[in-house]
Amino acid sequence: MKKTLLLCAMTEEIEIIKKSLNFELDSDYSDLPWPVYKEPELCIYAAVTGIGKVNAAACSSVLIKLIKPEQVIGIGVAGAVAPELKIGDVVISNSAVQYDMNATAFGYRLGEVPRMNTLEFKADSILYTAASKVAESMDLEAKVYVGQIMSGDCFVSGNMGAEIYQNFGGLCVDMESAAWAQVAHIFELPWVILRSMSDQADGTASVDFNEFLPRAVKNLSHLVEELLKSV
Ligand code: ADE
Repeated sequence: MKKTLLLCAMTEEIEIIKKSLNFELDSDYSDLPWPVYKEPELCIYAAVTGIGKVNAAACSSVLIKLIKPEQVIGIGVAGAVAPELKIGDVVISNSAVQYDMNATAFGYRLGEVPRMNTLEFKADSILYTAASKVAESMDLEAKVYVGQIMSGDCFVSGNMGAEIYQNFGGLCVDMESAAWAQVAHIFELPWVILRSMSDQADGTASVDFNEFLPRAVKNLSHLVEELLKSV
């Protein structure tokens, strides 16, 4: 079994998986500001990083140094921006980008982190192919897409989703994936992120988010469980 670090931003996102996979709070890490859980049989460590890119980066960096995982898997909900995506559908990342990184004044492309020699951070192709195969074999109610996740420190609503989609052409928006991806990239770890759509990042996004969060989390939980058992 590969030692895996499973990350999510909110407790709601880990609750269902925690129950079905026998996670227990790991007392070795009780001095950290984030709850860390362990599933000993599958060698999975799971943490709730908090919302936004700074929380996501701080927690994932510390845990990668302490736990030394061999791979990183992020999970959670996201806002759908690609027109084909509906609430409840699942996105498996093949890359992640920070849509709110802007050093264009220095000639960098919108979204490009200066001096990192890449616009987007690429997910591990073995992991996202495995996730997509697991999804295919499961006959899920949700449709599953593989593509780019776009992250920024903003809950995207109104017209903003359309603008981000126009600039980057990715599938969905969230507030952590590109930070987890960048940290995994810095530590040279393979990573993939799976997100279920809780809203369509539009005028009703905040209402839909609250209403569909539990369903979106549930849609994802079986897929994540099966993926964790298979990798
Ligand atoms: N996570 C879920 N929905 C989102 C949205 N609309 N914007 C940013 N992050 C999200």
